[in-house]
Amino acid sequence: MSRIGARELLLGALLVLALVAGGACAPAAARPRAAQSAAADTCDGAAPSYRAEVEPLLKRYCLRCHAEGGDAGEDHDFTRYEVLHAQRTRFRAVIERGAMPPTGLPHPSPEERVRLSRWACLGAPDN
Ligand code: HEC
Repeated sequence: MSRIGARELLLGALLVLALVAGGACAPAAARPRAAQSAAADTCDGAAPSYRAEVEPLLKRYCLRCHAEGGDAGEDHDFTRYEVLHAQRTRFRAVIERGAMPPTGLPHPSPEERVRLSRWACLGAPDN
């Protein structure tokens, strides 16, 4: 293969990568296999609404601990949008791993987990 050919191939590959990685989150293919879950591959399109679609799930599954006075209220008060927004990466990680809520408590359904994860992945907008 000539030098020019190899160079063009490289540029082409970079262009494809740039297009695929255009979103805020890495494409599924670039994530390590182990980090993927049922909620992966959902980080595109329009973000679910914080007030209409995310907050009700937080109330149902999280805020009994993640509010002032709760077990996790001091560092992770998710009744405060700014706190949740700042912790959106961790939030997404625990949702995708199914690590929260702690074992024994009602967990979000797969569809609800995808919704929470997508919202966080798409920048956790105050929408
Ligand atoms: C029964 C209480 C309880 C419930 C319900 C609960 N959590 Fe937690 N969560 C905790 C505790 C306790 C911690 C650790 C707090 C600390 O370290 O200060 C924690 C920590 C976290 C953290 C921080 C993890 C880290 O890496 O630092 C996140 C994010 C989180 N929870 C998300 C959630 C979400 C999302 C829900 C609802 C789907 C939820 N939690 C439901 C008790 C709870």
